Amino acid sequence: MINEQQVKAAFANYTKNYNPEDPKISLKITHTYKVAENCRVIAESLKMSEEDVEIAWLIGMLHDIGRFEQIARFGTFNDAKSVDHGDFGADLLFGKGFLITDYIDVRDYDAIIETAIKHHNKYRIPENLDSRTALFANIIRDADKIDIFRVQIEEPIIGIYGVSLEDIKKERLSDAVFEQFKERKAILRELKKTHLDYYVGHFSLAFELVFPQSRKLVLEQGYLRQLMDLQVEDAKVQQRIGFIRDEINRELESIV
Ligand SMILES: [Fe+2]
Repeated sequence: MINEQQVKAAFANYTKNYNPEDPKISLKITHTYKVAENCRVIAESLKMSEEDVEIAWLIGMLHDIGRFEQIARFGTFNDAKSVDHGDFGADLLFGKGFLITDYIDVRDYDAIIETAIKHHNKYRIPENLDSRTALFANIIRDADKIDIFRVQIEEPIIGIYGVSLEDIKKERLSDAVFEQFKERKAILRELKKTHLDYYVGHFSLAFELVFPQSRKLVLEQGYLRQLMDLQVEDAKVQQRIGFIRDEINRELESIV
């Protein structure tokens, strides 16, 4: 039903309009392929049909399609300062341009694909989704979170945060962020004040993973472990990071 080579060719053809040599663009292209693979592995672990595995993979390939036009139009990946890239991507695919037709010929999955992409970046998915749509939405959300750990390790920190890791290590961790870790939930954006809050805040995504295979992928890939090896300057902050690391390790290992 889905021709992977054709999807990859259509994606390459689309992204070539946005200068794939630009590090910001190439970061998103690499991320896309990694997330699509994560989607496939998670969907297979759930014993979904071959067709559904393909759809999960396709959602991975298209989930950040809004990023390219976002950076071209607004010069930033910051949704708060530009557009919500989940909504924007869903619009590009299913709005006027109807870009989805470049990727899949049948229209039966449109509602699922649109909803999963629209909500991939939201703090929570809507409560009223039917269970099948929620399944695809949760797969892409897990797959995306897993790759955020890789991006933090493989991409230059200065490009992501605008400051060096050396400088981040000198910062403090806000009390509110530390307190929220104890609740074992993703840290709310409005609580994050320092770069270190953002850096360490990413670790909390591990609490939100829905599927056992997702936790397994995080452990296998090892990026989160590397991130959590962070050595900061202040002993008290280091102690807090140690506490956070233990909580997250418990989370990842207990449920796999
Ligand atoms: Fe995204």
